Amino acid sequence: TANKSLLILPGDGIGPEVMRQVRRVIDWMAKRRSVSFDVTEGLVGGAAYEAHGTPLKDETMADALSADAVLLGAVGGPKWDQLPYDKRPERGLLRLRKEMDLFANLRPAVVYPGLVDASALKPELVRDLDILIVRELTGGVYFGEPRGITTLPDGQRRGVNTQVYTTNEIIRVAKVAFELARKRQSRLHSVEKANVMESGVLWREEVQKLHDSDYTDVQLEHMYADNCAMQLVRQPKQFDVIVTDNLFGDILSDCAAMLTGSLGMLPSASFGAPDASGRRKAMYEPVHGSAPDIAGRDVANPLATILSFAMMLRYSFDMDEDADLIEKAVKTVLASGIRTGDIMGPNTARVSCSTMGETLVRELDKMAA
Ligand code: NAD
Ligand code: IPM
Ligand code: MN
Repeated sequence: TANKSLLILPGDGIGPEVMRQVRRVIDWMAKRRSVSFDVTEGLVGGAAYEAHGTPLKDETMADALSADAVLLGAVGGPKWDQLPYDKRPERGLLRLRKEMDLFANLRPAVVYPGLVDASALKPELVRDLDILIVRELTGGVYFGEPRGITTLPDGQRRGVNTQVYTTNEIIRVAKVAFELARKRQSRLHSVEKANVMESGVLWREEVQKLHDSDYTDVQLEHMYADNCAMQLVRQPKQFDVIVTDNLFGDILSDCAAMLTGSLGMLPSASFGAPDASGRRKAMYEPVHGSAPDIAGRDVANPLATILSFAMMLRYSFDMDEDADLIEKAVKTVLASGIRTGDIMGPNTARVSCSTMGETLVRELDKMAA
């Protein structure tokens, strides 16, 4: 059979630094597990803008559409913050998500045993925590029309964005969430602000209808987004799966990240609808951004990106065994006290981004021996 084709888009800031550590894992797999990928590397974000004057070339978009999977680092940085909206690095990422139709973004927040002390919350609140946020990724206020900045007759400027959801957009992401909940603890929280937004009212009604027709075995609760943010830090273990819109999902997943110790720990996977052969287009990326404040110093935590790669093995290539191996190696390395700066705790040793990558591969070597 043909090789697995993988498009790697390192992007900006710490993106290339963390992606180098994924490359170590890929090289290790080729050498020790006889697994090879056809890897193409491309530019996205500020890096693409510098080279080509656009945050995503059409050729790169086409590569993404034809690859079996896409792995992205991060985009953005202060250097490009003043660019017109269409040239901004973030637009490259949003285009990828939109044109690949990746409407379901899975953001698992799992607390590794070794990191219980690195969490911002008390150990008993986060020990064994395992939450899955399913974020709608191609709709809502990120893409709604009208949008833009205009100047009013009196000289004031006016910025507009539109929160909009259709029944189909809600139902397709809710289905994904119900199906995933079924494979876990069968508990789903649907999060919106139906108390102030019509799109939230529609969201709540459609999710409830879907539950009543197809998923009565899943325990469904509706929750307002502001309360959800509070509940996540008050009693995070009450949650199993959370399904929510594009913007609330963005915010709540950064919040959930801190339960696990660091934003540098959270991977993600984004899926489109299944095609005729049942395969879904997919892109994998860490939840964090380009971290301009620490970029270029080889101190970033590469684990979110490495764990995103593991999700890719699991979901796009059915390589559960290899994904398990990587996740176990992460667990062992963390338990041994080896840490990047963002997840330091008592009795831990601080290592660089590349040393974390090296240590992980050495652990993989030991485990596979
Ligand atoms: P950020 O996620 O880049 O950083 C937030 C904080 O978390 C920073 O203090 C950073 O140092 C820390 N951090 C993030 N990832 C880390 C890691 N792997 N290891 C250690 N520490 C880590 O968010 P921001 O500062 O708000 O945004 C910076 C830029 O990144 C912006 O241009 C933003 O648009 C972009 N961004 C991109 C993505 C993406 O590409 N998916 C996601 C979020 C933000
Ligand atoms: C994320 C990021 C992106 C988002 C930005 C960079 C467009 O914050 O993936 O969480 O808001 O979706
Ligand atoms: Mn975000």
